[in-house]
Amino acid sequence: MTYKKIYQASLADPETFWMQAAEAIDWDRKPSQALFDRGEHLYEWFADGLVNGCYNAVDRHVEAGRGAQPAIIYDSPITNSKSTLTYAELQTRVASLAGALVAQGVGKGDRVIIYMPMVPEALEAMLACARIGAIHSVVFGGFAANELAVRIDDCQPKAILAASCGIEPGRIIHYKPLLDGAIELAEHSPEVCLILQRPEELAELTPGRDLDWHEAQEGVPPADCVPVEGNHPAYILYTSGTTGAPKGVVRPTAGHLVALNWTMKNIYNVDPGDVFWAASDVGWVVGHSYICYAPLIHGNTTVVFEGKPVGTPDAGTFWRVISEHNVRSFFTAPTAIRAVRREDPKGVERQKYDLSCLRALYLAGERADPDTIEWASDLLEVPVYDHWWQTETGWTIAGNPAGCEALPVKIGSPTVAMPGYDVQILDEAGHPVAPGELGAIAVKLPLPPGTLPTLWNARDRFVKSYLNAFPGYYETGDAGMVDEDGYLYIMARTDDVINVAGHRLSTGAMEEVLATHPDVAECAVVGVTDQLKGQSPLGLVCLTTGVNRPHDEIRSECVKLIRDKIGPVAAFKNALVVERLPKTRSGKILRGTVVKIADCEDFKMPATIDDPAILDEIKEALQTIGYAKG
Ligand code: COA
Ligand code: AMP
Repeated sequence: MTYKKIYQASLADPETFWMQAAEAIDWDRKPSQALFDRGEHLYEWFADGLVNGCYNAVDRHVEAGRGAQPAIIYDSPITNSKSTLTYAELQTRVASLAGALVAQGVGKGDRVIIYMPMVPEALEAMLACARIGAIHSVVFGGFAANELAVRIDDCQPKAILAASCGIEPGRIIHYKPLLDGAIELAEHSPEVCLILQRPEELAELTPGRDLDWHEAQEGVPPADCVPVEGNHPAYILYTSGTTGAPKGVVRPTAGHLVALNWTMKNIYNVDPGDVFWAASDVGWVVGHSYICYAPLIHGNTTVVFEGKPVGTPDAGTFWRVISEHNVRSFFTAPTAIRAVRREDPKGVERQKYDLSCLRALYLAGERADPDTIEWASDLLEVPVYDHWWQTETGWTIAGNPAGCEALPVKIGSPTVAMPGYDVQILDEAGHPVAPGELGAIAVKLPLPPGTLPTLWNARDRFVKSYLNAFPGYYETGDAGMVDEDGYLYIMARTDDVINVAGHRLSTGAMEEVLATHPDVAECAVVGVTDQLKGQSPLGLVCLTTGVNRPHDEIRSECVKLIRDKIGPVAAFKNALVVERLPKTRSGKILRGTVVKIADCEDFKMPATIDDPAILDEIKEALQTIGYAKG
């Protein structure tokens, strides 16, 4: 069927469309209907079905006779190790780990935090939770103890599954002390922590609370799959919002199984048995959907890659992994490709490998700049598909449905809306604008299956953050336009979220941290253009009257503060001391104008600016650290 027919069918009769897609999932009890309208613009999918996520990702493939097929290929250039787990082995390991959780009193609905690097056990941990109906929340390793503590307090886990350490180029990330620190900071305490001891660092276990990952599994019966209701949360994944408090995006079980399974053929164009690789991290939504769940649900082989695009050991790592493991479809962030290109602009490394297995490259997580797309398609000689989505949706809002009908690529556009997403561009009053005109990107409700029905413990915040701006629509937080052919263009965020190396960060959260510095009276954090990472955060701080310590000292304290409170992932390296911040007469900081000055872009003098002269001061200050020099 052509894309147009599929898309139109999904909007004209979502009930039939998604009930048909649901047939590819193995249910303990089939849902009686697809969409459940809960009133006040709240919806759920497949709510009265009974299903298990782990059964669909693992057991059913073993039962179908595919137990000997590789499920997970672990390739870790950073530790120099490789291994493969078949579906049958994965089943045994997941059932055993789930058994250990049950033995510790963890059951359906209990929350479990997972704090792990890119090792197969991270996926086993997620699947073990899904097996017994526990709700996992994976926390990315690059966050500081404080961020982990915030998540512990918000979702109140009964258990935490963690590794002794992670490994970054040149240094070991001591997970266990970070975990201990977070538990110390948090008000809530988990009853038990299961610690995977990695050979690179053995952690000290806290008696009475910590258990060794493997010892905890000894002598306990393996756990069976527990059927859960379709609307049962599979996981909570925290993501950045406008303020310091992260948003706990809830992923409903059945919707995510149905939608993710649909995407594997229709978007990523792989068949069961094919090798699929998403080079991301389990701590991000890409890792949840496309390292763990979707490839396994669909019966593919997934690659768990513990390394970086460059430096582990060189800019040919991606090409080696693709060639060595016969990867069909490869997914990464544009930043990663930019990093490879910077190191190896002529693509010398690529020539060392036979990449005839590769059929397409998929990019997401941030804007894919045309230069990067062109470079990658020349180098790899396969189509490069940009696609746009968010933690909240869990799968593509706009992409190229290459597996049903590959549409012509228009560079700069992630292509067209996927089934179930009625994407509209709205003006400030909520009226659709004409093609080619910029506006807020919104999706007419209901959103399709797999997308967030609410935020964990924060229904009012969910409504306020996403549903209030345009009644009847989900507000994506992105601005952009649609052209005459229905191709979407994503231009910018409409809120204080920035995107650094494909990582979503809140400038508001960084401002909250800087404001705690005793010498900082006022501050603003903005996202300025970065050639490698897309954006990078820059802090402007005004000091309290009377403070006359060296600015360099204050600057490095600010950098350290953000690293300690938010984590290295914030990549906050620059704080600039300024006399005053540019503001409107009503006191609103003109962050957008600062970004334009730093990036040497034209801007219109804001009519409401308090004192236009301040912009020259800011420009001069920015020039001292290398910005605003166009
Ligand atoms: N655990 C602990 N620390 C981590 C981490 C993890 N899992 N991941 C990153 N960090 C640290 C890094 O070591 C770095 O620390 P540093 O400031 O001491 O150097 C910091 O967080 C910033 O990391 P990052 O922004 O990733 O920059 P980098 O310079 O280490 O690497 C790239 C640059 C482009 C190679 C890297 O960002 C990359 O691979 N990006 C791909 C992005 C991606 O996959 N995004 C997921 C969405 S699809
Ligand atoms: P995250 O929730 O971390 O996946 O971040 C989602 C946000 O990243 C989106 O709302 C966009 O702002 C941005 N983003 C993701 N993919 C793309 C893309 N293909 N093009 C432009 N922006 C993107």
